[in-house]
Amino acid sequence: MDRYAQDLARWMPRLVAVWRRSRKLPEGPPTLTAKEVREVASAIRTLSLGLTRERSLAGGRYMDDPRLLGAYLLFYWPVSYAQGRQVLGELRTRPRRVLDLGSGPGPLAFAALDAGAAEVTAADRSRPALALARELAAEAGEALATREWDPQRTGELPASGLDAVVVGHLLNELFGKGEPALGRRAALVERALAALRPAGSLVLIEPALRDTSRELLQLRDVLVRRGFAVRAPCLFRGDCPALVKSSDWCHAERVFSMPPLLEELARVAGLHKEALKMSYLVLAPKGEPWPEPPPGRTFRIVSEALEGKGRQRYMGCGPEGRMGLALQEKHRTAANAAFFQLSRGDVVELTETEPRGDGLALTERSAVRVVAAAGRSVSSPLSHTERVDVGAPVTGR
Ligand SMILES: C[S@@+](CC[C@H](N)C(=O)[O-])C[C@H]1O[C@@H](n2cnc3c(N)ncnc32)[C@H](O)[C@@H]1O
Repeated sequence: MDRYAQDLARWMPRLVAVWRRSRKLPEGPPTLTAKEVREVASAIRTLSLGLTRERSLAGGRYMDDPRLLGAYLLFYWPVSYAQGRQVLGELRTRPRRVLDLGSGPGPLAFAALDAGAAEVTAADRSRPALALARELAAEAGEALATREWDPQRTGELPASGLDAVVVGHLLNELFGKGEPALGRRAALVERALAALRPAGSLVLIEPALRDTSRELLQLRDVLVRRGFAVRAPCLFRGDCPALVKSSDWCHAERVFSMPPLLEELARVAGLHKEALKMSYLVLAPKGEPWPEPPPGRTFRIVSEALEGKGRQRYMGCGPEGRMGLALQEKHRTAANAAFFQLSRGDVVELTETEPRGDGLALTERSAVRVVAAAGRSVSSPLSHTERVDVGAPVTGR
């Protein structure tokens, strides 16, 4: 079990204990009865439909409904926590002072604390969600500040002088749809960026759904045009090439060892057991430069393996833009064999490529080097003293 999974495993009994208390149930073991599993699974189905498929709950007060808040705590909290650990693990420096906006019961706030933050504030408009975050902090013996905050009512942020602002699955719920929503989200994100100290990071995580991902990419383009640099995952500095075709989008994927309770809840709720999928963006404060791209011809792999007849293909996105990358099996050599085992998110350096169709073909003269495996920082490594302990490689590669 990798480091993030071990930390999450420690949270699971705390989540169950706080869930029992919030539902006014007697104390019990760190597992659920079959009846409790069925009840929670039914609320998970409601959340899943309302937040991902029909989207009827997005922007609603579902966190104030004890049944739905309980299901969020037991099922979505661990997923958001795991996403937060992954993205925070990609930062070059360990953030000390962190603000979690739209925190709900605080999965990203606690991910930041576990990643080494010392001072974390969780902010949300839902009082019951913040109360659960405080209960979790007490259960874990962690210090967590909470603030009631609603950006649709106030332009003020609840803290400043921050090393990181984390915003998980909030933006898609704010300000409605279309151009006016995009403008108001961009204004909020600019305020969050202005609350950062130099070298700080704004971390945005959104669901890996086509529409919410594309909205995040549109927001990226607005901010890039206003002069903000992207720390991750983009290597391309122009307008996002995934927005050119309306069928394209971009998301990340990481291996996820689901805690057993999550597996059981997913099975009973009838949801697919999946890898950890999300769309994310890490932005730098105004005036900070883009990270230097790795030397050589580099691409981030932004698709799954697209196998064709006798060849392996991926979509890559690098300093030159987004394009197809392909290698025929008959051209496999020791120097390019790594191409056949790439994962979404890996950053690779390629040599001796030839233009072919919409992209590049590798040849028997090509070499393929993984510059950074998915989830690892591409920019220069941390010095020993500032290294973030990311544990064993999540992908095991
Ligand atoms: C999907 S949850 C995400 C919770 C947590 N950040 C995570 O990543 O799991 C969205 C959160 O946004 C909050 N939210 C939605 N609209 C809000 C608003 N106008 N002001 C403040 N919080 C809001 C909800 O209360 C909820 O806690």
